[in-house]
Amino acid sequence: MTTNSKLKTWVEEMAAMCQPDKVLWCDGTQGEYQEMLRLMIQSGTAIPMDPQKRPNSVFVRSDPADVARVEEFTFICSNSKDDAGPTNNWRDPAESKKTLAGLFQGAMKGRTMYVIPYSMGPIGSPIAKIGVELTDSPYVVASMHVMARVGTKVLDVLGDGEFVRGLHSVGAPLKEANTPDSPWPCNASTKYICHFPETREIWSYGSGYGGNALLGKKCHALRIASVQARDEGWLAEHMLILSITDPAGKKIYVAAAFPSACGKTNLAMLTPTLPGWKVETVGDDIAWMKFGADGRLHAINPEAGFFGVAPGTSMKSNPNAMKTIGSNTVFTNCALTADGDVWWEEMTDTPPAELTDWLRRPWTPASGRKAAHPNARFCVPASQCPCIAPEWEDPKGVPISAILFGGRRATVMPLVNEAMSWQHGTFLGSIMSSETTAAATGAVGALRFDPFAMLPFCGYHMGDYFAHWLKIGAGADGAKLPRIFYVNWFRKGADGKFLWPGYGENSRVLKWVFERVTGSANAVETPIGRLPEQGALDMSGLSVPAASMDELLRVDLDGWTHQLGEIHKHYEKFGAKLPQGLKAELQALEQRLQAAGSRV
Ligand code: OXD
Ligand code: MN
Repeated sequence: MTTNSKLKTWVEEMAAMCQPDKVLWCDGTQGEYQEMLRLMIQSGTAIPMDPQKRPNSVFVRSDPADVARVEEFTFICSNSKDDAGPTNNWRDPAESKKTLAGLFQGAMKGRTMYVIPYSMGPIGSPIAKIGVELTDSPYVVASMHVMARVGTKVLDVLGDGEFVRGLHSVGAPLKEANTPDSPWPCNASTKYICHFPETREIWSYGSGYGGNALLGKKCHALRIASVQARDEGWLAEHMLILSITDPAGKKIYVAAAFPSACGKTNLAMLTPTLPGWKVETVGDDIAWMKFGADGRLHAINPEAGFFGVAPGTSMKSNPNAMKTIGSNTVFTNCALTADGDVWWEEMTDTPPAELTDWLRRPWTPASGRKAAHPNARFCVPASQCPCIAPEWEDPKGVPISAILFGGRRATVMPLVNEAMSWQHGTFLGSIMSSETTAAATGAVGALRFDPFAMLPFCGYHMGDYFAHWLKIGAGADGAKLPRIFYVNWFRKGADGKFLWPGYGENSRVLKWVFERVTGSANAVETPIGRLPEQGALDMSGLSVPAASMDELLRVDLDGWTHQLGEIHKHYEKFGAKLPQGLKAELQALEQRLQAAGSRV
């Protein structure tokens, strides 16, 4: 328990509203984790996996109506609508509290309310923050054990201090304590993921899945933390953190932002193809960065585990992730093999002859549908990753030398492009985009902007967020700021095939980034930024046709000129809050493109 009277009062008030059968304060012990797995197995939520194959692991299938983050039901409930900005759903905080209080009234009947004190970041780190999640889901408790540092040790550090308040219910009360439960309780018709940035609160109702329910992750570490970061002068970002070490043993740290499903976990755990180079993982999804006494930006990974997308993960694409999930893993919405193991698309070249799909139906390769849900996940402690950096839990964080931005662009964006300044880098982050594909609604080939990969995760007005980035740069010693790069692994040729092999070969781009930071690689100034000079990218041992390399590193003046209109349209959304610095960057780009165009 705790002496924190604010915490005690809040738990009492929330319990009075939700009316659980009992309230249990989580201690964070291994015994408690095992008890959660046992409860999940007992209620049919999980099935245990063969301990010979995957020790201490379970397999879970969610309700088909509860498989992913629900952006349309995710709200920023700031006092002023304008603070939520044009890219968030806004709801009035008082009205939302009223609606939600109605829903939460009695919502935990027949269930236990678990109180999970958690630390985002190594316990006691000056960059870490504490939250408390109240939930009625043992799946959430088990997953929070993996994804954050939880339990009594967090309360010890919290003392009488402040904390983020997170209230979560699956929204499926049991009429009586012994009413049979469904294997995946949730509320099929009503879901709300509400954030109250001013009061640092999160109320999440109706979903038990991932980013909707593990409140430390997207809700706290990005949406609420981005607001705290703005108020306190630091950065809470949707970025992986990796280290790269050269053959001589020199190491630098890189943070990188990519939209969801662009291979962040793969890049964070990359196995370099270049001999003697080493990449280690500090984090795969979120970075919190604060200036240290040395004037440099230091990053921590606020999480303690990986909640990774399973499909596409294989010994080819990410052997380190495959080794990480050998034990102590919660798998969700994967397919099940006849001998009780998990499988998902692309895990093996040849799919098993028979599977049970994530919807419990028999499946064969001829079924003509996916066996695993595309958002199937593994949830596993980061400490199990064979390439985890030894310093990944350093409370001081790691000093960041470079920041990468990127999206999925078949055209226009070169393989790598270094920003000319922090302000130019902020501009590149603000125009991060992917081309829409046939998989999404809307016109194929149109640009979908996802600035800084924060579109679904920024807890305030994105125009103010851009201004915050500029302010961070303006207040710092420029020589100590990370260099900013824009990368694109997804450029395609006229035949529709990828021009760049990707995966471990991305180490060649990381090497150039490393050498730009350490001062040994050359770049050419172009209208769009600094590109590798001829021969500066180490291509030894890799045969990419010269024409493909030319295309990958070409400055596509026409392509850039054509997308200026879309950038203007994108910027119009932010109205008066679009900072002058970004307007100036767009204007300067236009002028450079025009000048270069008139020279050819
Ligand atoms: C994630 C996401 O789950 O970005 O990490 O959607
Ligand atoms: Mn993410």
